[in-house]
Amino acid sequence: RGGYDATFRIWRGDGSGGALQTFTVPVNEGEVVLDVVHRIQATQAGDLAVRWNCKAGKCGSCSAEVNGRPRLMCLTRMSTFAEDEPVTVTPLRTFPVIRDLVTDVSYNYEKAAQIPAFTPRPRDPDGNHRVQQVDVERSQEFRKCIECWLCQDTCHVIRDHEENKRAFAGPRFLIRLAELDMNPLDVRDRRDAAQDEFGLGYCNITKCCSEVCPEGIHLTDNGIIPLKERVVDRRFDPLTWLGSRIGRR
Ligand code: SF4
Ligand code: F3S
Ligand code: FES
Repeated sequence: RGGYDATFRIWRGDGSGGALQTFTVPVNEGEVVLDVVHRIQATQAGDLAVRWNCKAGKCGSCSAEVNGRPRLMCLTRMSTFAEDEPVTVTPLRTFPVIRDLVTDVSYNYEKAAQIPAFTPRPRDPDGNHRVQQVDVERSQEFRKCIECWLCQDTCHVIRDHEENKRAFAGPRFLIRLAELDMNPLDVRDRRDAAQDEFGLGYCNITKCCSEVCPEGIHLTDNGIIPLKERVVDRRFDPLTWLGSRIGRR
């Protein structure tokens, strides 16, 4: 489907404020939202700020909110929308705007830097590190993360609560902790830090993070809930108990 004119509404502005600007723009067969945003930039708004890189859903740069939903613009097909449906593109809401669709995502890099690095046990006498295939496979899912920050953007703990950012690392880093916690080579006990420094207890298992992940990572079911259960070994958290039951219904 293509060869029609779409109505795009794109947020323009900076940290001091802004507004939606409306464009009428041609759409060709097989295009994605990022193609159309680029056409607007090329033909109608040369100074439109937009971050992108791979156009293949792999670099995690083109994150934005399309009709209010956190998405990668390069993976959002125009065929998702009716031809007469306006497409509204706004910057990620959880992070400060720099300009137009570009936000300052340094919160995420600050949290990443706070997580203690992989701490392996000593090698076996023959110099190898041996792990079971099953342990490799469990953490493999989390390593698919492209750091697009859509899960961080959608999580209500910080989306509407700037004040929680200090104490909460966000779903992407809770699964990083879970990944390290599941790694049999890692000797560091990360349970106290997960709860006290990275805010695991703030997560009430709404699973919005899992719904928006373009890599299909089951952040909540496979990462956050198992990590909460490990923490509960030493502390009682009623939400985990409830969440693990809702999750397995
Ligand atoms: Fe993006 Fe998924 Fe990684 Fe979150 S876990 S940053 S949504 S790829
Ligand atoms: Fe947030 Fe995901 Fe938990 S959206 S509340 S981290 S399940
Ligand atoms: Fe790389 Fe969209 S441009 S993920």
